[in-house]
Amino acid sequence: MNDNDDRAAGGKADVVPAATASRMRELGISLAFAAQMRAAARLGIADALGDQPRPAAELAAAIDADPDTLDRLLRALTSHGVFVETAPGHYAHTDLSQLLREDHPASLKYLMLWFTAPWTWQVWPRLDEAVRTGKPAFTEIYGADFFAYLRSDPESAEVFNRAMTEASRISSDRVVDVLDVTDVRTVVDVGGGQGHLVATLLRRYPQVRAVLYDLATVVAGALAEIREGGELADRCQVVAGDCRVDVPAGADLYLFKNVLEWDDESTLAALRAVRRCGQPGGRVVLVQNLVEDTPELTVTTAMDLFMLLNVGGKKHTRRGLARLLEAAGLRPDGVEPVPGTTLRAVTAHIPAVGA
Ligand SMILES: C[S@@+](CC[C@H](N)C(=O)[O-])C[C@H]1O[C@@H](n2cnc3c(N)ncnc32)[C@H](O)[C@@H]1O
Repeated sequence: MNDNDDRAAGGKADVVPAATASRMRELGISLAFAAQMRAAARLGIADALGDQPRPAAELAAAIDADPDTLDRLLRALTSHGVFVETAPGHYAHTDLSQLLREDHPASLKYLMLWFTAPWTWQVWPRLDEAVRTGKPAFTEIYGADFFAYLRSDPESAEVFNRAMTEASRISSDRVVDVLDVTDVRTVVDVGGGQGHLVATLLRRYPQVRAVLYDLATVVAGALAEIREGGELADRCQVVAGDCRVDVPAGADLYLFKNVLEWDDESTLAALRAVRRCGQPGGRVVLVQNLVEDTPELTVTTAMDLFMLLNVGGKKHTRRGLARLLEAAGLRPDGVEPVPGTTLRAVTAHIPAVGA
């Protein structure tokens, strides 16, 4: 704001605490923060840095960047606690910047690249329009739904699948902790991505068999351990298909993790497929973030709108999800947190015939 703006606002600018105006500016320019994270991930700064502080000039040589400009990017990133300047022009890792390392066990590098993928910069400016119409911007811009688009853009698909695997790597153990597999012989992980959760489940429970079920292009990149010849392959089937049409029949437990956040018609179709292909008494567990009591309100609400824009989807409330389960002919049983994550496990079962 300049002096003229102050006068235009009736000379009241001085009654606004400086911190309030500063926060407002910060919110307004927050896309620049996302761009900085994207640049850092794409340049591989975190991977090149290693465990000791390094001068920006040396880092620039390692990643083939302009030294002065890299110094500017690093200074911007340190303002968020991503890297720290230990001496003028020398940078080191922080807990945050470590998560940009590809070799970190809890790496979020590909999640950062997915959050900031080129298509996201096309859809966010259409948020006002999407709020008016309730329709996803993605389909209008790209002429295809999100998952169909991924089939035509292998680089985006690779980033998406790796981001999902990263997210699963962090939460799979915790999700398996809350799964009750008493009397369960077969689990189908519907929309299970590349199979990280399935592999974790099979390792933990040697008596369980599993099916990884996802779109053909996704299961083509399934983890080696569950594919033919892999150490878990004898208890795992990898099946390609569209869960809105059908799901593998007769399992005791159908798992959907972070899948039913697209449009309600698709969610209903997938749940109806489970009702139809599953057996009475079969259980259904939906693992996802819910809008209520989320420990990450800013992320969950932002993801809610992100889902709106890319797949016409949403983050659900407990009630909304229970309504969809009931509309598909399933019986909701309850909701419990997945400790150590922001996820919730929503459980339901397939009713007895005639019930
Ligand atoms: C957000 S990802 C979640 C992946 C995995 N469950 C996880 O939590 O890491 C959604 C998954 O649903 C899959 N998917 C999308 N449409 C599908 C469909 N029609 N049938 C089966 N899977 C589908 C995607 O390919 C993707 O792997």
